Amino acid sequence: MCGIIGYVGGKKAAPILINGLKRLEYRGYDSAGMVTIDKNGANRFRVVGRVQNLDKAVSGLDLNMTCGIAHTRWATHGKPTQLNAHPHSDSRERFFVVHNGIIENHSKLRAQLESEGVVFTSETDTEVLVHLIDKLHETNLESAVEKTLQLVEGTFGIAVVCADEPSKIVCGRRGSPIVLGVGNQEMFVASDVSAIVQYTDQVIYLEDNEMAIVTPNDYQIRTLDNKPIARETLQIDWNLEEEGMGTFPHYMLKEIFEQSTTVENAMRGRVMLNEGSSMLGGLQSKIDQIKKLKKIVIVSCGTSYHAGMVGRCIFEQLTDISVDVELASEFRYRKLRLDETTGVLAISQSGETADTLAAIREARRKGALTIGLVNVVGSTIARETDVGVYCHAGPEIGVASTKIFVSQLVILNLMALLIGRYQSISLSEGVDLLRAMGEIPRQIQHILSRASVLEDLARQYYKVSSFLFIGRQLHYPVALEGALKLKEISYIHAEGYAAGEMKHGPISLIDAQFPTMAVVTRDATYEKMVSNIQEIRARSGPVIAIATEGDLHIADVADAVVYIPDTHELLQPILSVIPLQLFSYYCALYRGCEIDKPRNLAKSVTVE
Ligand code: G6P
Repeated sequence: MCGIIGYVGGKKAAPILINGLKRLEYRGYDSAGMVTIDKNGANRFRVVGRVQNLDKAVSGLDLNMTCGIAHTRWATHGKPTQLNAHPHSDSRERFFVVHNGIIENHSKLRAQLESEGVVFTSETDTEVLVHLIDKLHETNLESAVEKTLQLVEGTFGIAVVCADEPSKIVCGRRGSPIVLGVGNQEMFVASDVSAIVQYTDQVIYLEDNEMAIVTPNDYQIRTLDNKPIARETLQIDWNLEEEGMGTFPHYMLKEIFEQSTTVENAMRGRVMLNEGSSMLGGLQSKIDQIKKLKKIVIVSCGTSYHAGMVGRCIFEQLTDISVDVELASEFRYRKLRLDETTGVLAISQSGETADTLAAIREARRKGALTIGLVNVVGSTIARETDVGVYCHAGPEIGVASTKIFVSQLVILNLMALLIGRYQSISLSEGVDLLRAMGEIPRQIQHILSRASVLEDLARQYYKVSSFLFIGRQLHYPVALEGALKLKEISYIHAEGYAAGEMKHGPISLIDAQFPTMAVVTRDATYEKMVSNIQEIRARSGPVIAIATEGDLHIADVADAVVYIPDTHELLQPILSVIPLQLFSYYCALYRGCEIDKPRNLAKSVTVE
């Protein structure tokens, strides 16, 4: 949520900053800005809208300065206007700040500063930071930033420059990530590695309540109460090739089509077919404790929460452990009774979602074992959990999550199988599941080869104003995920429902203009689902069924059928979600929506 990039070195800063912002734009994109500085002063540009507007605003200008900071904003305090865009500055334009997070005591600080005569130019919470830095500046920028950060409550990832100290960036972190990139006589500062990975693979993550003083050839890290920290650089493994769109018109479509590879990557080196089990190196150090867990609570948000709901069914089937799944934003405020017999499993693509992070911190405080299932390597949740497993799915750029969902489902199966094989799952049950998993990549390709079926259906339905998605058991979260995808990228109102709840409300909405997508694969609840579909049809509601290949009966019941291959029951959601992703994509396409950057959303939600 909001993106930060900073550069100090020997090259022109402006193109590096703009490039970095383009890579960060998936984090927030309602306004953008940058400032470059040298001993003669500062050049600041701020625009409403996309980074390309900023690019246009500076094109043709000869910006030679070799130090600067930039920001892409997702508005929290104040509308997306030029004045609210970052970087913010003091009245003399000496200090400049970009900020991610929320300064919770900003009103009090603002009132105090205003009473001292400071004139504010924006409605943001961020602006108090820069006026405080100006007010508290005596000897150097770092001590002014340090004193300022001691006064603020809330969360921040910040980068600050001062025109009087033009080869220096000072940054700080509490709650919002900041990473330093070490180059050859140049340094980078960013809110996530994707902004700097094209320039260096040597990075250092700041921890909470730390700041860094960054100059072209050096960096010093210290705590906000001035204790020096020694930290080695980490080498990151990020393939830039994976980041381009290739021949696809949108990242979302590219990521949907990558899903057979995503599944292979999630399985690679982890399947022990002969033992009917899995090998997850990241859990090994605590495996004895994991085997004895009495309870697992899965915490997550958004699409990762839907993966968690599927995960509950998987753990229930494969292990003897009781499992709860909770929205991280609710879990963190509950009165929790946790101890070392409870595992709290945080599922997160970004590894930075504020509520999920807060949930695992709370769980740790209470003595639970924390486990991460994260995609972004080195992210905060990955670092702060006791043990964990990576998705290894590469960068996911489209705001609407697709390939990470299937990756999470594969790994949840592998995790549960690992535990279940120490409990009541037999060798042959384990082998059956793994054999079926081995077929999934090919089955995904088969579904994708018929994407045009979903495109045709989308052409038929994209003008409707509401859609219902229903499913049971493992397919209930898939229905929720289908509805989430449709609403987030096409802005069609969509609701996901457990099919058994149909008669408790949503059926009153059904008519010829209110279609339903029903996930009705061959499983124990098949007959009940068919009855629900008939109830909808009896009220003239059109129904599209996602059904198992070979199920001819369903074609008599539904208006349209999308077939998916048969697989092990626990793996069915991996296949059944793909037609729903495609359907949403094509509806959004026909409606002319900005598919990769839907309005008001951000890929990484780092504020509560
Ligand atoms: C945002 C994204 C979703 C994502 C959710 C949770 O809402 O737009 O795609 O599912 O955050 O993010 P996480 O990174 O924790 O999985």
